[in-house]
Amino acid sequence: MAAIRADLLSDTLTRPTPAMREAMARADVGDDVFGEDPTVRVLEEKVAGLLGHEAGLYTPTGSMANQLGLRLHVAPGRELVADQQAHVVRAELGAAAVFSGITSRTWASERGLLDPAGPMSLVTTGVGPYQVETSLVVVENTHNFGGGTVQPIGAIREVRSATTALGVAMHLDGARLWNAHVASGVALADYGREFDTVSVCLSKGLGAPVGSVLVGSADAMAEARIWRKRYGGGMRQVGILAAAGLHALEHHVERLADDHARARRFADACAEAVPGVIDPATVETNIVVLDVGAAGLTSAAFVEALLAHGVRTYSVGPRAVRLVWHLDVDDAGTEAAIAAAREVLTAA
Ligand SMILES: Cc1ncc(COP(=O)(O)O)c(C=O)c1O
Repeated sequence: MAAIRADLLSDTLTRPTPAMREAMARADVGDDVFGEDPTVRVLEEKVAGLLGHEAGLYTPTGSMANQLGLRLHVAPGRELVADQQAHVVRAELGAAAVFSGITSRTWASERGLLDPAGPMSLVTTGVGPYQVETSLVVVENTHNFGGGTVQPIGAIREVRSATTALGVAMHLDGARLWNAHVASGVALADYGREFDTVSVCLSKGLGAPVGSVLVGSADAMAEARIWRKRYGGGMRQVGILAAAGLHALEHHVERLADDHARARRFADACAEAVPGVIDPATVETNIVVLDVGAAGLTSAAFVEALLAHGVRTYSVGPRAVRLVWHLDVDDAGTEAAIAAAREVLTAA
């Protein structure tokens, strides 16, 4: 196998920078299960403040932060509604059903883009003992499998006002909300305030090795803290990891614009090589989903051919391949990916 020149498999691949490792080594720590880790406390308060919420809860993963959020709002036997490509329904391995007895229904969309008609066509309330009652709408921003799609704040507000009138809660899977904020210029708190709970990841484009934060009301986070322990997510001297998250928030948010520009440059080059594989205007953040079928390739063939050029990518469908930019992919890596993709796409 060729040496890897650009690893575009996922933005979870980042390794801590030397400065991040130093911040981790210096971190003040205590036993977080007893609420005594000062660095975790600072991180939770900081993220809650950034998102316009009262309190935060540090979790090992984004999946756990999401699952805690979902169970806070949905009683067993009730339902959530989400986009059909949402991470909570497609990639958390049925956790909402397994752990919380939650049923799910999904709406279809273009690139994961939120159209209020999607959720509002599903939300069902006041149906007594005859149908499943909807308790929660889940929105993902940016939308991962949709190709890093940024959700328009106007559409979010429209759903919020309709669901509030019906007594239905909203949870934001904001694993990449940082990317949405940098791409759109919408303040994090403006997104955050439209939801009852928000999960954000520090371990994706921000470059921390581990960690997510769930935010919401102080009461909701107290309840989530109990469930986190029950799920086995109570961690001890974990300030050593929270420090990486704090470092990432301070140093790695604005630079996400570089990832977005590189992803766009790659998309422009692919579209120039084979019109139809991607519409570059749809590349808003750090994720590109190519329709390699438009170049006469299967996703498996494209992934293998790129790997032979030292570029790692990920098949997300029979003709769809995802490429994700992050802290560890620079201009040289991007140029290598462009050259390899051009060659493979035009040879087909
Ligand atoms: C949109 C979205 N939500 C949640 C998660 C879950 O994060 P984790 O892998 O930390 O559980 C991911 C992971 O890729 C994601 O893309």
